[in-house]
Amino acid sequence: MPTELSPIDTAKFVAAKQACEYVESGMKVGLGTGSTAAWLVQCLGELVRDEGLKIQGVPTSSRTAKLARDVGIDVITLDEAKWLDVTIDGADEYDSELCLIKGGGGAHLQEKVVATASDRMIVIADASKKVDTLGAFPLPIEVLQFGARTTEELVVETLRNMDVLGRDVSLRMAGDAPFITDEGNFIFDLHLKRIGNPRQMSLALNQIPGVVENGLFIDICDVVVVGHASGQVDVR
Ligand code: 5RP
Repeated sequence: MPTELSPIDTAKFVAAKQACEYVESGMKVGLGTGSTAAWLVQCLGELVRDEGLKIQGVPTSSRTAKLARDVGIDVITLDEAKWLDVTIDGADEYDSELCLIKGGGGAHLQEKVVATASDRMIVIADASKKVDTLGAFPLPIEVLQFGARTTEELVVETLRNMDVLGRDVSLRMAGDAPFITDEGNFIFDLHLKRIGNPRQMSLALNQIPGVVENGLFIDICDVVVVGHASGQVDVR
């Protein structure tokens, strides 16, 4: 383990390290995005360099692609891979049914496409990501720049009919300008506080034409590897 990690980084690191057990030579591996996934990419890079692990990695963002190349992982596109053995990624929240909120890092579109094209999705998380009910973390939705304000109104209208506690919608910013995803889209963060029915919410949001994809992952995650600041790891 790297020396002098903060408690939260210790938790993320041990989860990432443990998740490397799901990766074997010859596999095509989806590489998630975010600070926990960055530890995974570092750990896999060490295995490639020091232990002769041979994998092909499909990154879920331009950030992860750069990091993966930097640590010596053979990077290919999803179209080159066609289908993956496993994807390992972080999450912003997970519940007891392994439903997730993702997209805090603005990459949930590629993350969902890649995870859905994988035999298994393994989530790596520190213990703070476990919730009884999804929704305290703002739900990201990626939307087309074209007609974004109209899309926002349609989203607000849709939320009026849903089982949620909050209904605020905010355009994600990067400094003074809107945050732009790798796909050239905007992100709205939905401050819902509590999502009573994640499945219904996901379907309703994705029916709005300007919405490209929402950050709810339902029936996609197979396993959550939970790291603790003590160094202990649980698998759910
Ligand atoms: C990026 C994501 C991340 O996996 C999620 O935001 C968790 O990030 P972190 O590991 O930094 O807490 O969905 O789009």
